[in-house]
Amino acid sequence: MKITVVGLGYVGLSNALILAQQHCVTAFDLDENRIHQLNQKISPIQDKDISLFLENDKLHFKATSNKIDSYINAEVILIATPTNYDTRHQ
Ligand SMILES: NC(=O)c1ccc[n+]([C@@H]2O[C@H](COP(=O)([O-])OP(=O)(O)OC[C@H]3O[C@@H](n4cnc5c(N)ncnc54)[C@H](O)[C@@H]3O)[C@@H](O)[C@H]2O)c1
Repeated sequence: MKITVVGLGYVGLSNALILAQQHCVTAFDLDENRIHQLNQKISPIQDKDISLFLENDKLHFKATSNKIDSYINAEVILIATPTNYDTRHQ
């Protein structure tokens, strides 16, 4: 299955790497530096497991900041961007 994950923070990146063991995952983020690091197999966040996953050559994973590349042909889009919420309802 072709899956796109939007937002590569703690939630998006961990889900993207788990899914990329079995599916073709394209990961999109607005942060170009984060994309560059991921394509060099460097984790942009402090997480030992994510670093180990990135070293796994069998992952079907690529990161991009190009919206067209990321959304074209996607069968599933998982959104993990920050949410603005009303703190009065905490
Ligand atoms: N971290 C948690 O434990 C946790 C738990 C429950 C729910 N959530 C929710 O999950 C979502 C993601 O949380 P997180 O901790 O991974 O956030 P994060 O801040 O670690 O990462 C968010 C990522 O989204 C990217 N981003 C922001 N706007 C974007 C856009 N318009 N398009 C593409 N990328 C964009 C940022 O560059 C960043 O890399 C939030 O809505 C949060 O409320 C998080």
